[in-house]
Amino acid sequence: MLLVTGGLGYIGSHFVIVALQSGYDVVVIDNLSNSHAHTQQHIETIAQSHFQFIEGDIRNKSLLERIFKQYQIDTVIHFAGLKAVAESVVSPMRYYDNNVYGSLVLLEAMQEHCIQKIVFSSSATVYGEPQYLPYDEKHPTIPINPYGHTKLHVENVLQDVCQADKDFAAVTLRYFNPIGAHPSGLIGENPKDIPNNLMPYIVKVAQGNLPYLQVFGDDYDTRDGTGERDYIYVMDLVQGHLAALSYLNKKGFHIFNLGTGTGTTVLELVAAFEAANSVTINQRVMPRREGDLSKFWANPSLAKTELNWQAVTPLHVSCLLNS
Ligand code: NAD
Ligand code: WQD
Repeated sequence: MLLVTGGLGYIGSHFVIVALQSGYDVVVIDNLSNSHAHTQQHIETIAQSHFQFIEGDIRNKSLLERIFKQYQIDTVIHFAGLKAVAESVVSPMRYYDNNVYGSLVLLEAMQEHCIQKIVFSSSATVYGEPQYLPYDEKHPTIPINPYGHTKLHVENVLQDVCQADKDFAAVTLRYFNPIGAHPSGLIGENPKDIPNNLMPYIVKVAQGNLPYLQVFGDDYDTRDGTGERDYIYVMDLVQGHLAALSYLNKKGFHIFNLGTGTGTTVLELVAAFEAANSVTINQRVMPRREGDLSKFWANPSLAKTELNWQAVTPLHVSCLLNS
């Protein structure tokens, strides 16, 4: 049985669907700080299957202990975390508390209940300023913001735990830029505040909820001067987690990039979205956003050889509002 932390959030909810559809029993813990309880019904409707949802915080150790006593959990898929880079610069302690301390409490409770398998949601942000591209997993990790530091700290903790306990298996997945939603249109990326990330912002503009897209800089060293990223369809991303689950039979600490291997600029993503959904996105070029990198994308070949996984969905399909 799987414990999915943050399982009602954007990526977690898409994962729970494919996990249920693959026959896994699932328990979700989520404190709803960035998600909605009604997402449970949507997941269950799509997957035609039920799962147990516990509203609570991963920093609540006695709650975790109750969950581990009540359910036969053997593996944790750890999505729960805060992820807004700018917010982490303003409130670093909140990020260390939630992301690092939260993971420590989770790992401690797991160890006490002899649960020795975990998949951890890390981020390409751990690499920092590219020393070469595409980033592979051996690229130096020098994060440039507190959010990135918290992800790297947890990676290091997992590595040390695996070193100390030879029966422990941890797979760290470094996501590039997840986009899109389940084709049903029932769930998707639905942040509680104004989106920070490009794709959910474009969606709000398309829906008329925001007046225009601010294009942060058009003077980068890229094809059209706008920032270039590796946008990966969320359904491909969660398939990577199923592959990682199988890989947990190998003990030890393992890291994989989950990306497509292709860079797309802001203007290219907007154009793909407009074409896919027959809409026009109002846009204005603004100054660069502080802390943004010019361009980065993944070398995803290790995931292909080791996990037998690769992203397969073309960009115009990832951009569809619903099909
Ligand atoms: P999300 O905010 O949609 O989901 C995270 C979920 O965790 C939310 O439902 C939130 O309510 C819950 N949560 C947060 N702190 C919690 C706590 N202390 N206890 C219990 N629940 C808690 O974010 P997401 O995009 O689905 O991201 C999932 C994970 O993937 C995060 O760890 C994030 O850092 C990582 N990640 C995301 C991206 C991205 O661009 N979306 C990229 C790289 C890595
Ligand atoms: C993409 C491009 C922006 C918004 C962040 C985190 C990273 C990961 C993913 C969690 C950039 C431009 C954006 C907008 C814009 N998250 N942009 N107008 O910055 O690559 O990565 O999210 O781990 O850690 O750093 O993603 O979607 O914010 O930006 O022009 O309103 O879109 O400048 O070039 P980013 P993003």
